Amino acid sequence: MNDFLYNLHYDIERESPPDWEVDWDDAPLPYKLYRNLPVVPLSSEVPLTFEKVERKPTLENLGHFLWFTYGLNQVSQGMNPFDEAPEPSPSLRRFVPSGGGLYPNEIYLYVKVEGVSQGIYHYDVAHHRLVCLREGNYDDSIQKALCGRCDVGDCFATVFISTMFWKNFFKYNNFSYRLQGLDAGVAIGQLLEMSKQYGYETNVFYQFLDQALNHLLGLDDQEETIYAVIPLFEKTIRIQETKIYTAETVIRSIPAIQTDHYIHSQKVLDFPKIRHMNNAVKIESTEQFSEIGKSKRKLIQGGFLLPNGESLSGDLMEAFRRRFSPGMDFTMGRIPLSQLSTLLQHTMSAPAKSDCSSSLAIAGCFYNVEGLPDGAYEYDHCTHTFRLLKKGDFRLQLQSGMTAHNVNLYQVPLCFHIISTKEFRKREYRILQMEAGRLLQRLLTAASALRLGGHPLLGFDVKLCDDIYSYRGETCLIQVPVGPVQPRVALRGSLF
Ligand SMILES: Cc1cc2nc3c(=O)[nH]c(=O)nc-3n(C[C@H](O)[C@H](O)[C@H](O)COP(=O)(O)O)c2cc1C
Repeated sequence: MNDFLYNLHYDIERESPPDWEVDWDDAPLPYKLYRNLPVVPLSSEVPLTFEKVERKPTLENLGHFLWFTYGLNQVSQGMNPFDEAPEPSPSLRRFVPSGGGLYPNEIYLYVKVEGVSQGIYHYDVAHHRLVCLREGNYDDSIQKALCGRCDVGDCFATVFISTMFWKNFFKYNNFSYRLQGLDAGVAIGQLLEMSKQYGYETNVFYQFLDQALNHLLGLDDQEETIYAVIPLFEKTIRIQETKIYTAETVIRSIPAIQTDHYIHSQKVLDFPKIRHMNNAVKIESTEQFSEIGKSKRKLIQGGFLLPNGESLSGDLMEAFRRRFSPGMDFTMGRIPLSQLSTLLQHTMSAPAKSDCSSSLAIAGCFYNVEGLPDGAYEYDHCTHTFRLLKKGDFRLQLQSGMTAHNVNLYQVPLCFHIISTKEFRKREYRILQMEAGRLLQRLLTAASALRLGGHPLLGFDVKLCDDIYSYRGETCLIQVPVGPVQPRVALRGSLF
């Protein structure tokens, strides 16, 4: 791990300027607003169940699909009883969580459905509409940027998930680099779940010619860059002939566009380390594509078989609607082993088709699970077995490792950790963070479907948790307490 990544993971103080103060009055908006460009309104008559959704990719369905993936779904006004001067603060909520509720990602699309001109669009979250950045047929350019790993001519849309650095750097400084990948992964996880509900075929590409696609979208890659590309298909994906292409040749075939956008902040600070990290991992030629996540984990020896979990393949609409981060609202309850088994099975099953064969694993410190001695466990999804790494109740230890005590882990029976190798090569770091975000979203959806709450946490002491599991070559990427919840009083206005 290079020094910067090591510090982000184990010693964040070293990467935070001591005099860092967040200028809340000049905070950026959690969504990007383009100005002076043609717009296409999207239907807000969203279905209330996925059972009746029209699978045909129309503009109407695409609008619903985007809204369920990254749209604004609720205005919530709660009181924080721990604030000295409690002042209700309204928040615009989405189906997905995001570090600090800042949503640093943006969604762009190459659209090819009836009723709208073929071209490149931005999903304007605030107005639930598409903003046209350029019209035209870009099958060939996108195909080359992906090195022909799917036939873009066959897809009805290609989604680009970008990260706009300032959107959470203004609060988290360099720590935002760690959040940006996880947040993008959460959005990818939700998009894949939606694709499943709508019956679309997908493939997630983490490797592509960055500059070529940023140029296609008209992004200034020193302030925003694409993290993942996901073409959507109605039918089976065909692979095209793969040849070597360079970003430079693809860029030459695409005229430049100038756009104007608004994000509210008057003063945008520089983020040299984040720019440096993203510049250093850019792919300039498809020859640089590599195998990611191939390092195989050792299979668990001496584990025991878990009971089969429930299938959560049905309509997940209610689970999406219910999900929120409970904070102090966890209440201790006993968890049946079959529920724990469902959570693990759902989270780790159905790996996405992608250019990263995920080597991530899941572990957890469990307390008050029926038929399971309290302790720290590791899960092997290939054999659906569990191995007890250390016996004991780790709740107090985990609580002492929290940066802010805004979740009472003493009230939480299940505390999961998503595990990865410590060795990251260049682009692999952000790819593994995205894969961890994808798993996180699966875990939260499963928890919500089982009427449990889950709260993602990056504010935890990684070293302390690695020590609980006695990890040396591996490490905890994110902590996710899961358990029964008694929601506090809040005024919530559903936007559907
Ligand atoms: C990657 C990631 C890291 C997070 N880290 C923390 C954290 O350290 N502490 C915390 O209280 N919440 C954390 N959250 C939860 C967010 O604050 C929460 O998702 C956001 O405020 C939106 O609220 P909601 O999840 O209820 O919709 C994290 C969320 C994500 C996706």
